[in-house]
Amino acid sequence: MIKKSIIITGIFAFVVLQMACNQNPAPKDLSTADAKSKEDSLASCSKTTIIDPNNTKPMALMMRQMVINADSMKQRILRNETLDSLQFPFIKFYLVEPTDPNVLEPNFFEKSRLHQAAYLELFKHPKEQIKYYNLMIASCVSCHKDYCSGPLKRINKLPINS
Ligand code: HEC
Repeated sequence: MIKKSIIITGIFAFVVLQMACNQNPAPKDLSTADAKSKEDSLASCSKTTIIDPNNTKPMALMMRQMVINADSMKQRILRNETLDSLQFPFIKFYLVEPTDPNVLEPNFFEKSRLHQAAYLELFKHPKEQIKYYNLMIASCVSCHKDYCSGPLKRINKLPINS
């Protein structure tokens, strides 16, 4: 019985999600597709997983782990601990299924590459962890401005102010 209602909730959430996703694209005149409506559709990527917890895609799940890891790195850096790359292996989020398959375009993979480079660089500079940590977070922000602006509020809390 419970299982059935979960499935029904899942289907309902999926339908709502589809409707939400189809609202923004295909404006009648592409030249008037202003930045605002683009922003709204970008923001929807974070809302989707909240209204649809049963259909969370692997990329969204990995991103959640990435925020947890980044926050944990931040706490360690603030305690003057040296980060251990074995404790924070790079998560290959760009190899798994996203909520919106349209994101899988060249610019996305280029931003993924830059993020991975910034991430690995952090462990090579134990004496400048704040600087390289902040650069790594900046590479999260850079991609999120293009693809998924919803979580930016949360990501913008991650940099270490010094
Ligand atoms: C190359 C692009 C890219 C980079 C780099 C990137 N993200 Fe994401 N992020 C995405 C996309 C696309 C999604 C939507 C994933 C989905 O819904 O399947 C996402 C989703 C998220 C979410 C929402 C997950 C949820 O609950 O649905 C958070 C939070 C997030 N990212 C944080 C981060 C953090 C922190 C970093 C850096 C450590 C980062 N992202 C780096 C593209 C990126």
